[in-house]
Amino acid sequence: MPRDNPPRDTLYRDADQQIVDFVFDETVAGVFPDMIRRSVPGYEAVIPITGLIAARHLPDHGLAFDLGCSLGATTLAMLRQLEAQPCRIVGVDNAPAMVERARENVIDPRVSFRCEDLRDTNLAGANVILMNYVLQFLSPDDRLAVLTNMRRQMNPDGMLIVSEKIRFEDEFQDRLYDETHLAWKRANGYSDLEISQKRSALEKVMVVDTEGMHAQRFVAAGFGKCETWFRCLNWASFLVRP
Ligand SMILES: C[S@@+](CC[C@H](N)C(=O)[O-])C[C@H]1O[C@@H](n2cnc3c(N)ncnc32)[C@H](O)[C@@H]1O
Repeated sequence: MPRDNPPRDTLYRDADQQIVDFVFDETVAGVFPDMIRRSVPGYEAVIPITGLIAARHLPDHGLAFDLGCSLGATTLAMLRQLEAQPCRIVGVDNAPAMVERARENVIDPRVSFRCEDLRDTNLAGANVILMNYVLQFLSPDDRLAVLTNMRRQMNPDGMLIVSEKIRFEDEFQDRLYDETHLAWKRANGYSDLEISQKRSALEKVMVVDTEGMHAQRFVAAGFGKCETWFRCLNWASFLVRP
């Protein structure tokens, strides 16, 4: 995590607030490390291991992208494994509050951050593309085009890692994991009110797909290999290759 003692996420604690659609603004950026750690099961395993996989795949002088980088946690995880290896890492996020803090958190001449929409990012020659918990925030209509563009632009021996919340076709399975996820959030100190208010804020903003939809979309985008390398409840991470 970028900061040692991150401020506690209490954004949805009060009962009398008007719930608006979730945005990655200054208030979210200020509590983000605590929010994501207490909200996403497996986050504290996925980020360091993503960094490890990515670093092992990145050749000397290679190029990596951390798309939807927020405060730079994935970039930092990669850097920890790269030691002094020469390379270039580009972090991309379209939220100014996130990019500003990422620039403070990660000081390394090999890393640069861009405040831009990842749909506009030139990925030409990428050896590694990391996109942890971001695709779910893009319009479903844009997702295939984003992945197709990645496949066209990345190196033929490149690697893509995509982490996402997922849902299940089977009603019982979907409810089981959803309710267990909410129980896990409660165990992490969120109240029922906080959980339900955050859920309302995310309802229109975060659209979740099934594992099968992800797999089919990777194939439709031109990728040849896709496997789920990590799953915890209804959160998964995919390792994808041309
Ligand atoms: C859940 S956070 C990602 C967390 C981060 N990858 C990590 O592992 O710590 C989603 C991030 O994606 C960014 N984002 C959403 N849509 C984007 C877009 N179209 N272009 C660039 N960034 C985007 C948001 O601003 C937010 O910082």
